Amino acid sequence: MSSTAFEWKPAFEPLAFARQSSTRTAQKPLSLAEIQRGICEAAGRPLNQATTLPAQAYTSEEFFAWELEHVLRAGWQCVGHVSQIPAPGDFLNLDLLGEPLIVVRGKDESVRVLSRVCPHRAMDIMPEGFGYDGHSAAQSRDGKPGCGHTRLFLCPYHAWTFELDGKLKACPEMHQAENFCRDEFTLKPFRSETWQGFIFVNLDGNAPPLAEDLGEMADDLAAFQLDKMKLVIAREWDCPFNWKVLVENFMESYHHLGIHHKTLQPMMPARDTWTERERRCYVRAHLPYKESVRDAYLEFERRGDFSDDLPPLAGLTGAQKSEWGLFLIHPTFLLATAPDRVIWYRLQPLGPDRLKLITTTLVFPETAARENFPRLREQALKLLTEFHLEDMEVCTAVQRGFYASGWQPGRLSHLEMTIWLFHRYLAARIRGVWPTDDRPAAPGQRRNGDS
Ligand code: FES
Ligand SMILES: [Fe+2]
Repeated sequence: MSSTAFEWKPAFEPLAFARQSSTRTAQKPLSLAEIQRGICEAAGRPLNQATTLPAQAYTSEEFFAWELEHVLRAGWQCVGHVSQIPAPGDFLNLDLLGEPLIVVRGKDESVRVLSRVCPHRAMDIMPEGFGYDGHSAAQSRDGKPGCGHTRLFLCPYHAWTFELDGKLKACPEMHQAENFCRDEFTLKPFRSETWQGFIFVNLDGNAPPLAEDLGEMADDLAAFQLDKMKLVIAREWDCPFNWKVLVENFMESYHHLGIHHKTLQPMMPARDTWTERERRCYVRAHLPYKESVRDAYLEFERRGDFSDDLPPLAGLTGAQKSEWGLFLIHPTFLLATAPDRVIWYRLQPLGPDRLKLITTTLVFPETAARENFPRLREQALKLLTEFHLEDMEVCTAVQRGFYASGWQPGRLSHLEMTIWLFHRYLAARIRGVWPTDDRPAAPGQRRNGDS
């Protein structure tokens, strides 16, 4: 696995703009209840009357605090893929929603998500750079901070050690502590599930089981054998915008017409994209290839010459070979499937206007083992970076718009049905239910050309 911090800087800084802007007061601050009411009103309209959410849903500290508790920590967050930790002792670290976490494969092969907060005196047991000075049991992988291999966890402060399942193994000079019971001091485990090779955590421990409502999606994705794939690209981005701006941007393809007119639009025209019916826990959209692209791709597959491109995954259906698929598992799991690769975005919301994002690509192990893979990987990284840079620019500018007095509620195109469904999910969480629990599921769209 490779992870590189990408030195992208936005042309402007939304928060700095907001602080400097004397016009900010022109936009009325809304209370939490008013923002929630605005979301429910926007999401309550039919698609052909749908509007955008109040700007404050993307800027308010108070609303972000509500989301943290009721949407983000209450939901399932994807923290890794099994190919990142293939062997017992392999681990990766991340800071998610205020929790320093280790994702680790135990000696029993189980994957666990543990807190990195030491139960002695709250030290982060693996602060950034851990493992570089040689005093740790952990070895970083490829010189990358945050992932590696270890036999046990060692807190660098007072040298307490922990097993890979979080149990306290040893603690020096604690024999005079009265009634000290070692079993009571473990690295706190968080509830986690592995689904289709992706590792999810639920921080508050109360979410419904992840796989419960994803059976249809699992069937849909079966041919991709996601659990066998290998994560071969991971690029980190510091994003000066709200996490929902990214979710909305990832899930709608209307903007192929604009910002991606040279990159994605020639391959997957916006007007052909369509969205399936509403589901309780996820959103599913299709981005069909333009006919000429599809024919060229099928011809390329028939010739079987993969010296210059990633080979297509074996076993895909005809439809899967002729489109990209987009998936959102609420609230933040974003996946795009292509005939030759899968793209997954890992989101770590940091505040109303700040998000850490890792953009990744996964391929089949046979693809990664090809002799020409290093070159193909560079091409895949170029594609991922090219269209994501376009998205970074628009998302940054959108966040800036939320602070401006010129902001006004907008209207949605039918090509933005995915956004409307995401808003219906947020409104459902405000009502304390899930989409489709208390109102009928919205029907899917007709494909272009369907009668
Ligand atoms: S804080 Fe970890 S051993 Fe003391
Ligand atoms: Fe985009």
